[in-house]
Amino acid sequence: MNKDTHFGFEKVLSEDKQDKVNSVFTSVAENYDLMNDVMSFGLHRFWKKIMIELAGIKPNSKVLDLAGGTADIAKEIHLSFPNTELTVADINAEMLLYGKQRSINENFFKNTSFCQLNGEMLPFSDEYFDTVTIAFGLRNFTDKEKGLSEMYRCLSCNGKLIILEFSQPQNSTFSKIYDWYSFNVMPIMGSIFAGDSDSYRYLAESIRMHPDQEELKENIIKAGFSNCKFYNLLNGIVAIHVAEKN
Ligand SMILES: C[S@@+](CC[C@H](N)C(=O)[O-])C[C@H]1O[C@@H](n2cnc3c(N)ncnc32)[C@H](O)[C@@H]1O
Repeated sequence: MNKDTHFGFEKVLSEDKQDKVNSVFTSVAENYDLMNDVMSFGLHRFWKKIMIELAGIKPNSKVLDLAGGTADIAKEIHLSFPNTELTVADINAEMLLYGKQRSINENFFKNTSFCQLNGEMLPFSDEYFDTVTIAFGLRNFTDKEKGLSEMYRCLSCNGKLIILEFSQPQNSTFSKIYDWYSFNVMPIMGSIFAGDSDSYRYLAESIRMHPDQEELKENIIKAGFSNCKFYNLLNGIVAIHVAEKN
């Protein structure tokens, strides 16, 4: 692989992107949960609850939370569906460490396993999972198409994919306010609360480089999924895509 891609607004070699993404999440891991609350005014919790509702997880089923980081989604899934066999997978060791600690502190470690892996090469057999969730993760992949086809491969027939990701605001005034907030306020907050403005600048830039709702829907369909729909939240700042493997 010797192609160009983007890391935020910066053009980089594809083979270099993952290391750069890893340094961002290694740097933010310690303050990740706090910063999520600060930056989204707590809204990410609400978005994640909606994502889990839309997932329609069945009792005793197998769920992969990909790019699962500090395992807050895994915890919510466990609370609503305690008999689920949960796998939290992420490429970043530090993020997973905080996730494992959470699973012990908040007592959902029994049915939960943690895997350090690249979502573009999943080490699971075909059709292993009934549900794959991925929140705010796909945007960071170097090869999103590869990631989506791996999710497809690992899902069982009638399995469900749910993607929660930043997307494109639908109203232009709203979009301008959001741009101002992202490029002016977010890096300053990153600097104040986490001593790291660069990572939060990357966050804002990576959101702008990510496909919008319709383009992502097309990519999901190209990966083989059916019945793909999306729901805009907060005027499309965030969108939840739901798709099935038939
Ligand atoms: C913004 S965090 C999201 C964490 C969690 N899902 C949440 O919603 O709070 C993005 C996560 O994606 C992970 N990630 C980035 N690239 C990845 C890849 N190729 N495979 C697996 N995980 C990846 C990062 O390590 C990071 O933990």
